[in-house]
Amino acid sequence: MADIDLGLKGRTAVITGAGGGLGRAHALLFAQHGANVVVNDLGGSQDGSGKGSEMADKVVEEIKAAGGDAVANYDSVSTAEGANGIIKTAVDTFGTVDILVNNAGILRDRSFVKMTDEDWDLIFDVHVKGSYYCTKAAWPIMREQAYGRVIMTASASGIYGNFGQTNYSTAKMGVIGFGQTLALEGEKYNIKTNIIAPVAASRMTESLMPPNVLEKLKPEYVSPLVVYLCSENIDVSGELYEVGAGAVSRLETLRSKGCTLNPDEGVTVEQMAENWSLINDMTDAKILRSIAESTQASLTHCM
Ligand SMILES: NC(=O)c1ccc[n+]([C@@H]2O[C@H](COP(=O)([O-])OP(=O)(O)OC[C@H]3O[C@@H](n4cnc5c(N)ncnc54)[C@H](O)[C@@H]3O)[C@@H](O)[C@H]2O)c1
Repeated sequence: MADIDLGLKGRTAVITGAGGGLGRAHALLFAQHGANVVVNDLGGSQDGSGKGSEMADKVVEEIKAAGGDAVANYDSVSTAEGANGIIKTAVDTFGTVDILVNNAGILRDRSFVKMTDEDWDLIFDVHVKGSYYCTKAAWPIMREQAYGRVIMTASASGIYGNFGQTNYSTAKMGVIGFGQTLALEGEKYNIKTNIIAPVAASRMTESLMPPNVLEKLKPEYVSPLVVYLCSENIDVSGELYEVGAGAVSRLETLRSKGCTLNPDEGVTVEQMAENWSLINDMTDAKILRSIAESTQASLTHCM
């Protein structure tokens, strides 16, 4: 058992894609902190093909061997039926769902010119629709009990773009917007949603980096943030964190001071050219925290 009390004892945590990599590390740490864990994993390969029960079963065995409580589920997150099955497993076994970590993921990397509709759709099915279906199934329960903690798993690929990942980066940026809006809608019901952009050694990244680097990127270095964000007294919602190899940081949206032209006098392409360095100058950039703050600058001088 862990030293710190995060109010996780007896809580039920559903971790999707928990048969390996990051999900497995999250599942083990939640169990160590006293949560009942639903270990979901389709058990397929990295590109989304195939399925099996072995991966999830193994993690459940590990949790039980360490004295924790867990149950396996082998449904796919990418259909409503599968997601409902995952949440049903939590309710049938442990009575409810308090925590949902949307973690399941696959890759279909190709340069945009070679990308097929199937590569595009499959990535959306797992990352965007998978997060949607699972959250949709858990949300009414969390609302009803006025308690919920939800994690979205984004990626630096979504935040910054990454060659060969137009499908994945679009999907990962999508779950950031999803999580931020859920944070607003869940506020009244004590449902807190936060988003992580992790870096870790897993079958997804093992061919991309040398062994000495991978050794420093243990999934176990990401899970403490996830577990902490799902603790009872967590005081943030709608935030985005980068996490990996022991480095943990929060990200914000910055907007340059830019220029404010007078629409009554016309807004022209020539003015764009004239003001180009000002528009791009980040010297006095401001952090924006909400859509209201964002639209304010455009609207105030129209009032
Ligand atoms: N490893 C990294 O550096 C990194 C970086 C950014 C984001 N991520 C994200 O973190 C998450 C976990 O990735 P990982 O690195 O641990 O990779 P991983 O391949 O080890 O884990 C993903 C797990 O999801 C499962 N899965 C895939 N499709 C599923 C489906 N339809 N239903 C249920 N389970 C399914 C897989 O079987 C696998 O066990 C993913 O969302 C990934 O995109 C990882």
